[in-house]
Amino acid sequence: MRKILITGGMGQVGSYLVDKFHSHSQVTVLDNLSSRSKYVLPEGVDLVKDDIRSSVAQDLVSDHDIVIHTAAQISVKKSMEDPLFDADNNVFGTLNLLEGARKGDLEKFIYFSSAAVYGNPEYLAVDEKHPVNPMSPYGASKLCGEKYCTMYHDAYGLPTVCIRPFNIYSPRQDPSNPYSGVITKFMERVSQDLPPIIFGDGGQTRDFVSAHDIVNMVMLLSDDRDHNGEVFNVGTGVKTSVIELADMIMDLFDLDMDIEFRDPMQGDIRDSYSDISKAKKVGYRPQIELKRGLKEISDTMFTAD
Ligand SMILES: NC(=O)c1ccc[n+]([C@@H]2O[C@H](COP(=O)([O-])OP(=O)(O)OC[C@H]3O[C@@H](n4cnc5c(N)ncnc54)[C@H](O)[C@@H]3O)[C@@H](O)[C@H]2O)c1
Repeated sequence: MRKILITGGMGQVGSYLVDKFHSHSQVTVLDNLSSRSKYVLPEGVDLVKDDIRSSVAQDLVSDHDIVIHTAAQISVKKSMEDPLFDADNNVFGTLNLLEGARKGDLEKFIYFSSAAVYGNPEYLAVDEKHPVNPMSPYGASKLCGEKYCTMYHDAYGLPTVCIRPFNIYSPRQDPSNPYSGVITKFMERVSQDLPPIIFGDGGQTRDFVSAHDIVNMVMLLSDDRDHNGEVFNVGTGVKTSVIELADMIMDLFDLDMDIEFRDPMQGDIRDSYSDISKAKKVGYRPQIELKRGLKEISDTMFTAD
């Protein structure tokens, strides 16, 4: 049985990865529980409550076949407020794990980067050759982690691969977290009979991708041998405006309310969606259309998931 370490395994994406991998692998989760999580680990999965920056983390990595590194400080806003905390978690944490990997004999190290590395798109759809120009400490720290991963591949022969997810959503995003994504925020408002609040005119577009599709890409990469040292976009390739999103969510709850509009947020990117041609070459096919993914959230948001 392959031994798989999932950092951040109590988080939104990490927990779905645990669900997927634990039936056929020996899974260990490394998480410092800095984010609130209602997730209950399946039987047989070990939880190590520690930090990716610790020596415990290094030792754990060196003792596994596959490492899936999702743990991170994930908020753009928080990174703007405290860039040092962001870099310490995301850069030093990643480097610490890579050092553990250098001491071991890993089959694969899968790093979660972010579409935030691209900054304001110069062209659409954004492919992997698009210039990287992060607009926040978060984007910079994610890119730095990515660079370390590809450098460790080139210099030490480590089998690293990086993914750049676009806007991930799922029922497991924490609605009480002030930094949660727009889908979770709209859902929370509409479920309380309150209209969605849009910053700006709502014409800005995003590529919303279900956590289940992200998991499928990770599954493909965990068995892949031909793309070490490379980077992949993971999105849907479909753009949705924020106003369309608000309408879809109100439809789901059978509500028709006037959306509240506020001043645009400083530094908000206007349009973003992915070119996923490269991911398709390794077999990736997004399966969850946005309407279906939103329904999954509304079905589960009032139950203990
Ligand atoms: N959510 C998105 O829209 C999105 C988009 C692009 C990329 N990503 C990336 O995907 C990954 C997973 O995102 P998510 O939405 O599941 O995040 P999440 O916040 O739900 O989960 C992250 C988990 O990591 C843990 N963690 C944080 N810092 C840690 C540390 N120093 N040591 C140990 N554990 C720590 C947290 O407790 C949490 O359980 C992240 O790397 C994020 O940067 C997310």
